[in-house]
Amino acid sequence: MDTELIKDWKALVPAGTDAFFVAECGSTNNLATEAGHHGMTGPTWYVAGKQTAGRGRRGREWTSEAGNLFCSYLFKPKEECETITALPFIVALAVRDTLIALGCHPEQIKCKWPNDVLVDERKISGILIESSASSGKKPDFIVIGIGINLTHKPDNSMFPAASLQDTIGSGQLIPDKAFKQLAANLHQRLDNWSGSDMSALVDEWSSCAWGIGARREIRTHNEAFHATVIGLGPDGGLNLRLDDGTSKRLYAGDVFGI
Ligand code: BTN
Repeated sequence: MDTELIKDWKALVPAGTDAFFVAECGSTNNLATEAGHHGMTGPTWYVAGKQTAGRGRRGREWTSEAGNLFCSYLFKPKEECETITALPFIVALAVRDTLIALGCHPEQIKCKWPNDVLVDERKISGILIESSASSGKKPDFIVIGIGINLTHKPDNSMFPAASLQDTIGSGQLIPDKAFKQLAANLHQRLDNWSGSDMSALVDEWSSCAWGIGARREIRTHNEAFHATVIGLGPDGGLNLRLDDGTSKRLYAGDVFGI
């Protein structure tokens, strides 16, 4: 990331939001979480040029080569904990908006449950949402970590990976350009979120979801099985039809191609 050209990261985010850039850190989610535990509630972005211990969902590693985008958004929601249910879908749609603004065709970009974003059926972005609630129903703070593969992609990922460079060639591949777009899109989507009825969100996410109607492999922390993906439930769970004809709603796990 060219810190010589872009020194003022605060200029890249919407008014009322703060932003910090570090050339390298372990994990931007850790930076944001530490700030949260010190009583800061944002809204603040933490961006890194490179991560040495990037974290993915379910304890996995997130490959974090310089040239990709690594950022985490610290904020305190107005609504109660239930809002967290909607966040994976709000954030995935904001990432999708961003990739389209950066030059991808809308048809190329699909959302994969719970909060991955795919380009041409390969993962280009991952989202790690973490929160802390010491008491009551309202989180003290939430951290939304987002990684977008701009110029690099991992060779050894569980799900096939892609980068923006693979997709659009050269062009909008500079992390600060992608970040500015993402910060604006997430701000707008969070602002528009009413915090109560998820139905419009479920409809929008479903209209660009990957794998609906298809038989897929499902992996949870303790099992792997095949099921037909029926769609997103009103509470963010994934509705499945198992091979024996029974239904199941999945709340944690991963969906893979067959
Ligand atoms: C996943 O798909 O498993 C989630 C990946 C999330 C990666 C981002 S990169 C910025 C932030 N910092 C981290 O350590 N993780 C998230």
